[in-house]
Amino acid sequence: MKPRSLLGPGQRKSGYGNRVAWLSLLPPNSVGAEIGVLKGGFTQHIVSTVKPRCLYLIDGWCAIKDSFGYSVDMRMVYFCSRALRDLAAESVAGHIRPLCGWSAEAVDLIPDATLDWVYIDADHTMEGCLADLKAYYPKVRQGGIIAGHDYKYGWGCSVPEAVRRFMWSLDRDIDSVHTTDAQDTPSFWFRK
Ligand SMILES: C[S@@+](CC[C@H](N)C(=O)[O-])C[C@H]1O[C@@H](n2cnc3c(N)ncnc32)[C@H](O)[C@@H]1O
Repeated sequence: MKPRSLLGPGQRKSGYGNRVAWLSLLPPNSVGAEIGVLKGGFTQHIVSTVKPRCLYLIDGWCAIKDSFGYSVDMRMVYFCSRALRDLAAESVAGHIRPLCGWSAEAVDLIPDATLDWVYIDADHTMEGCLADLKAYYPKVRQGGIIAGHDYKYGWGCSVPEAVRRFMWSLDRDIDSVHTTDAQDTPSFWFRK
């Protein structure tokens, strides 16, 4: 499926296929960040489709908070090592910057207005997603793209409400937010 050309005033919502097809809207050779990486499944698509010159990969991976403080989840250790192993060639080529940590902390390592795009797919609660939108928005250059996964409700996911509140805080219309097709789990995106 060939996506429509990039964003302009009045461009219509939806119709961009699934999120892998949507990736072809991101500029090649760009600087981007994926917030929430897990096994690096979508990262592989980003690398092969967008061919970013610099990709920040931000995930807390092995650290989970329990009632005793922090402990280690071996499954996440495996996911982290698998993601990094599968991206080894990109790492050696200098295109990957993995930042293992909470998104709220890792954000301070990224200079303002240096990202061409950000894809948020970490904490899907209203509070968590809204916090990531607020934290990473200043990192994206003017005209860059803010995007994220799971634009839906359910199972603790309130991404649409977070996006709605964020657009409201910017005094921007929710109609400037686009989504990928609803048959897939939709991703959202808008231009700064
Ligand atoms: C849905 S998975 C990401 C999936 C991946 N983007 C993909 O499409 O293949 C969510 C990931 O976000 C991470 N995560 C959740 N909250 C986070 C936070 N506040 N900071 C950093 N990582 C977080 C989790 O460790 C998990 O690996």
